[in-house]
Amino acid sequence: MKTIFITGASAGLGKATAKLFHEKGWNVIATMRNPEKETELNNLKNVTLLALDVTNYGQIQNTVKKAIELSDIDIVFNNAGYGLIGPLEGLSDDQITKQLDTNLLGVIRVTNAFIPYFRERKNGLFISTTSIGGLISFPLGSVYHATKWGLEGWSESMAYELNTFGVNIKTVSPGAIKTEFMGGSLDTGSKPEYEEMTNNMFASAEAMFSMASTPEQIAEVVYEAATDGKNKLRYVAGEDAKALYKQRLEQGDEIFRAEFGKQFLGA
Ligand SMILES: NC(=O)c1ccc[n+]([C@@H]2O[C@H](COP(=O)([O-])OP(=O)(O)OC[C@H]3O[C@@H](n4cnc5c(N)ncnc54)[C@H](OP(=O)(O)O)[C@@H]3O)[C@@H](O)[C@H]2O)c1
Repeated sequence: MKTIFITGASAGLGKATAKLFHEKGWNVIATMRNPEKETELNNLKNVTLLALDVTNYGQIQNTVKKAIELSDIDIVFNNAGYGLIGPLEGLSDDQITKQLDTNLLGVIRVTNAFIPYFRERKNGLFISTTSIGGLISFPLGSVYHATKWGLEGWSESMAYELNTFGVNIKTVSPGAIKTEFMGGSLDTGSKPEYEEMTNNMFASAEAMFSMASTPEQIAEVVYEAATDGKNKLRYVAGEDAKALYKQRLEQGDEIFRAEFGKQFLGA
């Protein structure tokens, strides 16, 4: 029986992925900040809950050690993350630091904690949830984009580093998903000078989210990345994300940027 280790499994895509892999007969180590609050995954056979806040360096080391002692691990799914929206000058330094700590350093640190284990086994796969926001940008999401573009570039570099040892790394880059991402999980900042741009941005986001994928649909892409045996880095997930990424590749960076920006900034 194969095992997947998941971060941010309490909700949204992380939980949907835990349930899908469980259904497919995998052993699942579902990590979350507050496992004592979980009421669903704790009832599933072959699903083990472990506490993990990906911003807590010491807890990462302890939880990864515990997980490796529990069973062999085949896949690490770095999924924990949240959105931060607002003009840069409207964000506090704490907001910026927490976003980078969670979405970027969290993934780097969890991965690093597993590398010696995968390298010695000469086998293992890291999958990280990035975003279409790691391949294109919206206004007012600069720090979120810094984390997700960061993960895309970091993963590309890590693939060279890890492939030599029989270890692989992939990204799943979803478009909009119907989760708490734009609801309770979203952190925001504001500044009156950016009000019109903010309203346009939220109107565009609302239109995009009306076509959002379900977390179950994106979990299927995680499953594909986990099981297709391909040495492929990037899995763009969701029809919205695929269309936008295709448009960017076809138009090239500069034309895409100018065209895409019109909806927020005017012609
Ligand atoms: N929804 C979208 O439209 C969308 C689009 C592209 C990419 N994504 C990415 O998809 C991933 C999953 O988000 P989602 O849409 O499923 O949103 P979600 O429903 O809000 O779930 C986010 C998960 O991340 C966890 N989390 C947040 N901070 C954490 C931390 N410090 N340590 C451990 N876990 C933490 C949350 O745990 P708690 O329950 O403890 O808060 C929750 O389990 C994120 O990386 C997000 O950036 C989402």
